[in-house]
Amino acid sequence: MNKDKLNILDHPLLQHKISLMRDKNTGSKEFRELTAEVAQLMIYEATRDLPLKQVEVETPVTIAKTNVITGRKVALIPILRAGLGMVEGAVALIPAAKVGHIGVCRNADRNGVTEYYCKLPYDIKERDVIVMDLMLATGGCAVAAVNKIKKAGAGTIKFMAVIACPEGVGALRENHPDVEIYCGALDEGLNEDLYIVPGFGDGGDRIFGTK
Ligand code: URA
Repeated sequence: MNKDKLNILDHPLLQHKISLMRDKNTGSKEFRELTAEVAQLMIYEATRDLPLKQVEVETPVTIAKTNVITGRKVALIPILRAGLGMVEGAVALIPAAKVGHIGVCRNADRNGVTEYYCKLPYDIKERDVIVMDLMLATGGCAVAAVNKIKKAGAGTIKFMAVIACPEGVGALRENHPDVEIYCGALDEGLNEDLYIVPGFGDGGDRIFGTK
């Protein structure tokens, strides 16, 4: 598959925590905590290219020429509902980020997706966006969310998912070749129920304990 703009993050801490998330015996309290920790590690990697400018800061010793982040501000946009679990970890590293929400779900007949909620920061046009979902499975929800965010006039858009699979990466790549993708694992593919294999089951249920 075309791995252009696909970043599979291989930090050992991230890999270890994802393995714990995969374990069916990991309960929702621990799964939720791991999701936040993994999101924090992923956002660290996904923001490596933020531009810097040099400033002068007076230290107790002398004047230091040092760097601060410059350029457009960031908006974090989780896809409901599993993406919600990633917000806490992401805002821990980017506390000034605004957080939008998009609710998109797969239609029962598996034909297309329905958008049922959208609330984006009013100044989205002045922001670069990181869209977050726990899984990039068929890619249908990801494509619909990015469509909506582009229509709202956002700057660059990145997509971050803990686990992705070739089908989802292909769909996002085909529809939005400009979107950089960050994931912690690229799994084998989808089963007949459209779950990622091996994956970690239903992400929303695992985070919120609904099953
Ligand atoms: N959504 C989930 O929650 N899990 C999958 O494996 C695929 C989509």
